[in-house]
Amino acid sequence: MAEFVPVPSFDLVVFGASGDLALRKLFPSLFHRYKDGQIPDDSRIVGVARQVMTKDAFRQSVSEGFANLAKGDPSSPEFQAFLALIDYVALDATKADGPWDHLVQSLADGEDKVRVFYLSTPPSVFGGICAQLRDAGLVSPASRVVLEKPLGRDLMSAKAINDAVAEVFSEDRVYRIDHYLGKETVQNLLVLRFANALFEPVWSRAAIDHVQITVAETIGVGSRGDYYDKSGAMRDMVQNHLLQLLCLVAMEPPNSVDADAIRTEKIKVLQALVPIGPADIASHSVRGQYRAGLVEKEAVKGYLEDLGPDRTSSTETYVALKAEIANWRWSGVPFYLRTGKRLPSRRSEIVVTFRPPPHSLFGHGGEANQLVMRLQPDEGMEMWLQIKEPGPGGLRVKSVPLDLSYETAFTLRYPDAYERLLMDVVRGNLSLFMRKDEVESAWAWVDQVIAAWESAGTQPDPYAAGSDGPLQAALLMDRDGRKWRDLI
Ligand code: NDP
Ligand code: BG6
Repeated sequence: MAEFVPVPSFDLVVFGASGDLALRKLFPSLFHRYKDGQIPDDSRIVGVARQVMTKDAFRQSVSEGFANLAKGDPSSPEFQAFLALIDYVALDATKADGPWDHLVQSLADGEDKVRVFYLSTPPSVFGGICAQLRDAGLVSPASRVVLEKPLGRDLMSAKAINDAVAEVFSEDRVYRIDHYLGKETVQNLLVLRFANALFEPVWSRAAIDHVQITVAETIGVGSRGDYYDKSGAMRDMVQNHLLQLLCLVAMEPPNSVDADAIRTEKIKVLQALVPIGPADIASHSVRGQYRAGLVEKEAVKGYLEDLGPDRTSSTETYVALKAEIANWRWSGVPFYLRTGKRLPSRRSEIVVTFRPPPHSLFGHGGEANQLVMRLQPDEGMEMWLQIKEPGPGGLRVKSVPLDLSYETAFTLRYPDAYERLLMDVVRGNLSLFMRKDEVESAWAWVDQVIAAWESAGTQPDPYAAGSDGPLQAALLMDRDGRKWRDLI
């Protein structure tokens, strides 16, 4: 049975409230928490963006977002009651001369309540918004700020944002979002590793051959081309989501589930990542860009056509990397990471491949055991074991999975990652958010990979939409005598 832990009544201001993320994820997630009785009726939610519109027009766009982007039913009485909590203020949040007094009025008599400022805007305006919040006198003792990813576009810009935010909010009031950490199956990684004594003795170079982390998407860049073309898969996905998954697989057991205990162990992993510099860039990385093709039987355009007419770009929509961790537990165990848009299936998974049996007793090489953690969709776990195939005809060994499907085992609705994360901000639980030094360590590693690409001056390898990515990614594995797990 799901249990909903009550949260206190709170005020939430969403900057960037008319944007894709807010309408597609944040408001639908807030509604689900409201529907489950977790948001008290005297809570207030205020949307802020520069576009001038009335409160009713804004509520209408939240309804349309819920219907069109989240496939929900906005006509239900619960949704209408949720809408009644929402106000809207049109404001350029980086400028002092806007109608800040409107926002002050919307939050009147709420100094004692938890007050959340969610910055769902481009990161370049995070520092400016924090300064204006302070100058408008809106930062109460119980205020906290949520920053969307990616935080900046390199180490230097991330530091500048962190410093600007730190002038207004102390670190224990800054919630840096990586929504992958809010996914149920990602949280389950910690439970799997540290609530089952079975794994720890084999969770190292002694028994593990290599690890694969895949986040494959079928979607293209859609309407986010302008943002994406300045970012690319490395900044958009690897710097945050894939490195966070790698940290959860590779970290040492924390002393407790306290936020800082977990984050300190994750940072040690990031700091132990071996730099991929100009000498290794060709052997340790692949960049790709999709061309037109067929995804799930549908003809789709290539990346350049998705950007618009007559566009050129050397931005990567696919990355494969061979990462290595220089510490006692993982030395010599490669972590292969890959992510891309317009791949043949939507699939996020972590595959831990164990070493094969040291001696072949049954007349063949002996396949290695694999632990597959399926993060989405079709959440679950597979443990591939060798068994004797039943029946006559000699002793035949076969690889079969012990298969746990969460859908079959638990009949719950899977909450969106943002539901959990939003409630954690209100509760003041920082465990699933990234600390300043964690984000900066991730950028430090990613920056030198990007610098090595730039100095090599190569273009991303083309791949057809709907294929497994560039051939070079298969070769990266092939050189090591390994292969990627199939995407279909
Ligand atoms: P959009 O471009 O769709 O939305 C940006 C929003 O910010 C708009 O509401 C815009 O409204 C508002 N805005 C911009 N500048 C200001 C300003 N000076 N003052 C007030 N409001 C402003 O972006 P997304 O919603 O896609 O992304 C928002 C953030 O979330 C980004 O940091 C992005 O990297 C991150 N993110 C997005 C994801 C997604 O799937 N969309 C996924 C993960 C992270 P107006 O122009 O009217 O001011
Ligand atoms: C976002 C990226 O952080 O994650 C998007 O900006 C990507 O480009 C998305 O599509 C993937 O998230 P999910 O939860 O659908 O796997």
